[in-house]
Amino acid sequence: MVLIYKKEWDQSIDGIIYNRLFMKIAGIDLGEKPLFLAPMEDVTDPSFRWLCKRFGADMVYTEFISSDGLIRDAAKSVAKLNISDEERPVGIQIYGHLIEPMVEAALVAESAKPDVIDINFGCPVKKIANRGAGSGMMRDVPLMVEMTRRIVEAVKIPVTVKTRLGWDDENKNIEDIAERLQDVGIAALTIHGRTRAQLYKGVADWTLIGAVKNNPRITIPIIGNGDISSPVGAAEAFERWGVDGVMVGRATYGRPWIFREIRHYLNTGELLPQPSVKERVDIAKCHLLKSVEVKGEKVGVLEMRRHLSNYFKGLPDFKATRLKLVTENDISELLSILDTVAERWGDFDTSAITPPPLSSDI
Ligand SMILES: Cc1cc2nc3c(=O)[nH]c(=O)nc-3n(C[C@H](O)[C@H](O)[C@H](O)COP(=O)(O)O)c2cc1C
Repeated sequence: MVLIYKKEWDQSIDGIIYNRLFMKIAGIDLGEKPLFLAPMEDVTDPSFRWLCKRFGADMVYTEFISSDGLIRDAAKSVAKLNISDEERPVGIQIYGHLIEPMVEAALVAESAKPDVIDINFGCPVKKIANRGAGSGMMRDVPLMVEMTRRIVEAVKIPVTVKTRLGWDDENKNIEDIAERLQDVGIAALTIHGRTRAQLYKGVADWTLIGAVKNNPRITIPIIGNGDISSPVGAAEAFERWGVDGVMVGRATYGRPWIFREIRHYLNTGELLPQPSVKERVDIAKCHLLKSVEVKGEKVGVLEMRRHLSNYFKGLPDFKATRLKLVTENDISELLSILDTVAERWGDFDTSAITPPPLSSDI
């Protein structure tokens, strides 16, 4: 026992013991059992990241950004580099299939001053994966490793990776990939418990995530991801699989407060009640105003459409109001529609609402 303790103490010089209690990605202290907002295209823009952060997400990521787009200075890609101090620590995620453009894109991303550069080796979308980017990189592990090595060498900030279990059922090579990526210097690895072939179907398999985490060769933090939709599910992911962090994606749709729920449960073992309709209205307003502050009224309102009605899923007779929420362009009109929601449904018992099943459509 003493010996084990001493060994662990010696290792603490490298931050290993410290990581076990208070997770760190390189020098970034994320506290105990940190919760991550998953990067999601068209979802995790600055206003949504800001909101999730306020509800207790310990780390957030941008939507993935095309390396080609960044290098070409394409407006859409460059706009995604927009991060702010209030959301730190924040990672900028990039993807691509060629080493040189990815290194160049990593340097462009670094100049936006994120806390980490995250490489996407997990995107299953056909036009990306079939070109060899995203999860397509899992079919060429030597290229994946070399690309990562070059990016780690090129930038001064920590580099992390997010990926899946493998390409398909016959090729679940995450255990090998994890060791090889660690060996070229990544600071943390996020694993979504599905293969590329699964897309978002079936259920996430956490067994291999646990196997990576429990591999004695692995010393970097392992963040588990896939199908976490409740405080109990998140607690189980920490306890059963021993992961260093848990990442939540689709369950945040219309429920950014899930981070508050999970943290409360981890701290107390108790479930918080779901927010009242009035509180949801306040949250929706905050989100809307932040979106408009960041993107201007026209785009800010347009991009909020996908979120607004999600806050009120499960309310009876909501169809007509929902239609107004997703068609109105004027911010003050929208705010008053939200006021009418609070007036009309203010007394509705939200504990009767069951969250919809996870879906990749927002
Ligand atoms: C709409 C949508 C967009 C996504 N965009 C990204 C992305 O840009 N980068 C990335 O690494 N993963 C992306 N993902 C995958 C999520 O980060 C996450 O791995 C996946 O949804 C599984 O987690 P969940 O079950 O908690 O949702 C996206 C998923 C969805 C549904």
